[in-house]
Amino acid sequence: MASFVKDVEEKITKAINKLGYQTDKVLLSNSNKPELGQFQFNGVMAIAKKNGLNPVELANKLVDILQEDERFEKLLIAGPGFINITFNKDYLLNYMNKCLNDFDNFIDIEKSKKIIIDYGGANAAKALHVGHMRSPNIGEALKRLAKLYKNEVLGDVHLGDVGRQSGMVITELMLEQPNLPYFKENYTECNDSLNLTIEDLGRLYPVASNKAKEDEKRMEEVRKITAEVDKGTKRYLDLWKKIVQISSKDIKNTYDKLNCHFELWEGELDSYKYIDDTLKILKPHMYESEGAYVIDVKKEDDKVDIPPLIVVKTDGSSIYATRDLATIYSRMKRFNPDEIWYVVDKRQGMYFEQCFRASYKSGLVKNETKLEFLGFGTLNGKDGKPFKTRDGGLLTLNALIDMVKEIAASKLKENIKGEEREKIVEQIAISILKYGDLLPVRNTDYNFDIEKFSSVEGKTGPYVLYTAVRIKSIFNKLEKTGEYKISEISSKDEENIIIKLIELTKVLKAAYEEKNTSIICDYLFNICNLYNKFYAEHNIINEKNEKIKQSWIALSRLVYLVIEKLLDILAIEIPEKM
Ligand code: ARG
Repeated sequence: MASFVKDVEEKITKAINKLGYQTDKVLLSNSNKPELGQFQFNGVMAIAKKNGLNPVELANKLVDILQEDERFEKLLIAGPGFINITFNKDYLLNYMNKCLNDFDNFIDIEKSKKIIIDYGGANAAKALHVGHMRSPNIGEALKRLAKLYKNEVLGDVHLGDVGRQSGMVITELMLEQPNLPYFKENYTECNDSLNLTIEDLGRLYPVASNKAKEDEKRMEEVRKITAEVDKGTKRYLDLWKKIVQISSKDIKNTYDKLNCHFELWEGELDSYKYIDDTLKILKPHMYESEGAYVIDVKKEDDKVDIPPLIVVKTDGSSIYATRDLATIYSRMKRFNPDEIWYVVDKRQGMYFEQCFRASYKSGLVKNETKLEFLGFGTLNGKDGKPFKTRDGGLLTLNALIDMVKEIAASKLKENIKGEEREKIVEQIAISILKYGDLLPVRNTDYNFDIEKFSSVEGKTGPYVLYTAVRIKSIFNKLEKTGEYKISEISSKDEENIIIKLIELTKVLKAAYEEKNTSIICDYLFNICNLYNKFYAEHNIINEKNEKIKQSWIALSRLVYLVIEKLLDILAIEIPEKM
């Protein structure tokens, strides 16, 4: 199976070879002169230059060869050697119909890899804030995209379940529920479930944190308990694990709302059993410095100063890096992936660079294994400042979801009621959040403008959903005869849609290679625009010519399938109606 684009590129490559020249990559480009052709090949000039030839002469020779193939309907040379290409109608339609049967005709699969994606990264026992939305959204989309290319992909949430928050929550619990078995002198084991709600958890951490800020003695206590958990002191670790469990359930709930699901629900705590083995591997490269063991990671050609990575404290207590390195060890040992991707706030970029270098240098990771940091920018409020609630507090992710649901509900038709309404409101809200979040290029900061993102016009989730629902309603109104088949290109509007559909191969490839969801969002907007124009100018339902009507229905079907697939990559669902 090869895409149309690949097929054509191979044909052009062969023609060039036939003329006796070599070329590494032939690209079928979008046309910037649609009046001259549907696509362009702009590579002649480079080949001519390399071989000391006149480009127009070379273009002419190339066209002579290509013309023998009837699939190239029209070949026009422009300027210094641009070749404008118009394809034979049957060739185009044949491919479109193949895609109707199987979406995979749009993509060219290369070697399948095993990839672990580290995304989500919520911190247990602390509320999820708006900033925590980007990693699950982006990570989930990249995971689905990697799966589309038939890779074996595992998403790991890598929960932040170690750190100061353990000491905070436990010290506060000691005050609130001093009679818990974990605090008894003779504690050995406790199998009872912990009587603690999500609401309790939401309160405990901020209360403790405020107290500790003002009271050095309390802070000292927090540090002590945090260290006990890190050391694995049974009573505290047992209690902390129960707290993490409760918190995990809540975090999972929020991720579910965002349609983010993880193959591996692991966290920093899970790395502890690998720390000893990890440190054995790192040891020959470590040296002592100011109470810690560090590894030099700078290289001669560095443009910025990359400081040594602090691996572990000399007293043996672990830090963030210890746990990340042990997690890498565990992933290599258990899954032996070809690649590990980290979808994390770009401000952690330097830290990950240090970790990666230490991993390669020590042999924790083979040179062939690719560790890749995929940083993302900050999500700010409409005014470019940190996103806050009306009274100035930090906005939780759940509060943002509710806020967007309210707006979605206010725009939905009144006559959709009950459970159905609830579901559709949720689907629209998620489209507002996700499309808004996935449209900006990954590593840029952006402003979350709720009004703009929820409009049914422009580059928004609701606009795309609206288009999809409109197409779906055509199918509900019309009976089709036989199988879907596009048999006509009766207008420029249809031709434009078909050209756009052929481009999808390149769009998906670029999004996958650059790990950039923005390209997919842009494409969705463009294909919706083209379809809506076609829809406005063609009365599909009342078309008298049955053959044309059926062809339009089939084309609509293909556009729908494409929108549906791309939205599915972004983890956005299409409502039944809007
Ligand atoms: N919990 C971390 C944080 O909030 C993000 C985790 C990212 N992944 C990792 N392997 N360190 O900053």
